[in-house]
Amino acid sequence: MSSPSQQAAKLGFGFAVSQALRVVIELGIPDLLVSGEQSVEDLAAATKADAEPLYRVMRLLAPEGVFTENPPRHFALTEVGAALRSDRPGPRDFIRMINSEAYLAFEQLLHSVRTGKPAFDKVFGSPRFDWLSAHPEQAALFQRAMVALSQGTNEAVADAYDFSRYTRVVDVGGGHGQLLSAILARNPHLSGVLLDLPPGVAAARRGAGGDLPRTDFVAGNFFENVPVGDIYVIKKVIHDWNDERAGLILRRCREAMPAHGRVLVAETLVPPGDEPDQIKAIDVVMLAVTGGLERTEAQYARLFEGAGLKLERVIGTRAAISIIEAAPA
Ligand SMILES: C[S@@+](CC[C@H](N)C(=O)[O-])C[C@H]1O[C@@H](n2cnc3c(N)ncnc32)[C@H](O)[C@@H]1O
Repeated sequence: MSSPSQQAAKLGFGFAVSQALRVVIELGIPDLLVSGEQSVEDLAAATKADAEPLYRVMRLLAPEGVFTENPPRHFALTEVGAALRSDRPGPRDFIRMINSEAYLAFEQLLHSVRTGKPAFDKVFGSPRFDWLSAHPEQAALFQRAMVALSQGTNEAVADAYDFSRYTRVVDVGGGHGQLLSAILARNPHLSGVLLDLPPGVAAARRGAGGDLPRTDFVAGNFFENVPVGDIYVIKKVIHDWNDERAGLILRRCREAMPAHGRVLVAETLVPPGDEPDQIKAIDVVMLAVTGGLERTEAQYARLFEGAGLKLERVIGTRAAISIIEAAPA
């Protein structure tokens, strides 16, 4: 059992593990271990890396549960490590994405805590989504990361809600289009609109998130204008923004929708208490990177109120995401 000070010191090394994980993903190590254990020398030769530093990185990750080392300098995948294979839907692209620009922004987290403003803007000179629009490669990785993070959740959201009384679904900030694809597949009576910035629309058009029949693609700005529809889905978008900006997106939906329309915000609610929950880490990532936040149910109710909407109900899904339904106030 380590002492309290050793435990505290270990917390301070979190960056070493997350960056080491990114390195083995970038080198494609998990794919090389699919057919069984290999020596670090063979892995280094296959990835054009230097065997000694690669060994040290893999030795760090083994006790974290990613590899097993047995015999010495031979590594095998654990189930956790196997989740990083490129042929598995999993967190691979998310880990790569979050450990690049977001990681650099985090060095200035104190700035966010002192000012409430995103560290990203200070480090990169522009807001996160403006920066992504100017960096197509990172924007494409971001969209792949969103697909990876969304595994299972889009189907869960599409299954949990009855869309039968609506005709046109607008996916606001729909990105790759995986949620819209799942909703349209289950509801052949619906047509769809996918609204996003140009890189998101490009990913959706490429079919990054699945087939999108009966869909209009709109490259636009949800702070300015939202297309007309009678059911709005907004998944993992509101958490990117502070209350003022998030409220504006919801107000744009309210302006465009008919009286019987509904807004479905799909987000992970912050639970009360101090139980461990990954959403608390994502919340601080939002603080530093986009200036957004994860919210409780009461915070969503207030946000809707300010946008001319009222929270009607919260619908749980089988995934770690809820549907927060709002109607015109
Ligand atoms: C965190 S992603 C969520 C994507 C998708 N809804 C999902 O659940 O995976 C946020 C999305 O908002 C889009 N976005 C950001 N600013 C926008 C704006 N001003 N207008 C339209 N879309 C925007 C981004 O391009 C991105 O696709």
